[in-house]
Amino acid sequence: MNITFCCTNTAPEPWLAGLRAALPQAQVELWQPGAAPADYAPADYAVVWQPSQQFFDEQPQLKGIFNIGAGVDALLNLRLPPQAVVVRLEDAGMAVQMAEYVCQAVIRHFRDLEAYATDVRAGHWTYYKLRQRSDFPVGVMGLGVLGARVAQALAHFEFPVNGWSRTPKVLDGVRGFNGASQLDEFLASSRVLVNLLPLTPDTSNILNRERLSRLQPGGYVINVARGAHLVDEDLLALLDSGHLAGATLDVFRTEPLPADHPFWRHPKITITPHTSARTLRETSIAQIAGKLMALQRGELVAGLVDVGRGY
Ligand code: NAP
Ligand code: GLV
Repeated sequence: MNITFCCTNTAPEPWLAGLRAALPQAQVELWQPGAAPADYAPADYAVVWQPSQQFFDEQPQLKGIFNIGAGVDALLNLRLPPQAVVVRLEDAGMAVQMAEYVCQAVIRHFRDLEAYATDVRAGHWTYYKLRQRSDFPVGVMGLGVLGARVAQALAHFEFPVNGWSRTPKVLDGVRGFNGASQLDEFLASSRVLVNLLPLTPDTSNILNRERLSRLQPGGYVINVARGAHLVDEDLLALLDSGHLAGATLDVFRTEPLPADHPFWRHPKITITPHTSARTLRETSIAQIAGKLMALQRGELVAGLVDVGRGY
């Protein structure tokens, strides 16, 4: 079995060493653009993050593509070998990170921790009025591997939690909404909105003025999925009008966020550099190796992407 590796944002050596150790029967090579066919045997499987179109054009024989991440939006924008199955990471240590990140963002806002930090730095011993948890229903868009974990973590902190998915989901402590017909009711029932949807043609620009206006007054937006879910100008307008109280953003249309983008310095926006849930190399390699061997044995594997659906 031959494996080709291509990852644009990380040093390849530790991945190559990890894959070779986990799959000793496989030949694992770093993809070399334009290498002659005689340089190494054609690969059966690819392990990738944001490869180029050239990567697939040169390797039309691939049987399977393993994405080193949960979101496959960038991959599905490319022309992939039609026979290849696409497999994404499921959790692989990201769900607990996402739960940590979103809970801290909700609690930081709910408990006025940013204002306390500012006051303390200025030498002020001040108190803010305590807020009622019942006034802070949190809506989680996307109840998949990450969204379900986040919704349940928020429920442990006793926030009222709403969840929205494409198909109905039943989760302890979460009021479920599904489908386009229940989106408005879901938004109107929520004050804090957490986005954990995949980026697909159906969900692109979903966080726009019309939808965000439906959040309860004093709404707060946490986008940890993809930048193209959010219409930047609409968020800024609703913050400036006072309908929204603030936002925590981890993902952006262009990454790194351009130096002149207003999100950098907006007083009501907290940004982080796409770090809410990082790929953990060892856990991911173990998951990929397990699924790859299962595929080789002809077994069904979880995390297969439905290319037509977009996630
Ligand atoms: P997932 O397991 O595939 O879950 C996707 C969820 O979204 C499902 O509940 C699905 O509904 C729902 N959904 C999809 N299309 C919908 C639509 N049109 N209307 C309503 N609901 C819809 O994905 P995941 O593993 O939780 O990951 C979610 C996303 O998080 C990824 O795609 C990626 O973009 C992002 N992410 C970000 C980071 C970061 O560091 N910022 C890290 C990892 C992932 P059904 O349950 O009905 O199918
Ligand atoms: C990161 O954004 C991922 O999709 O895993």
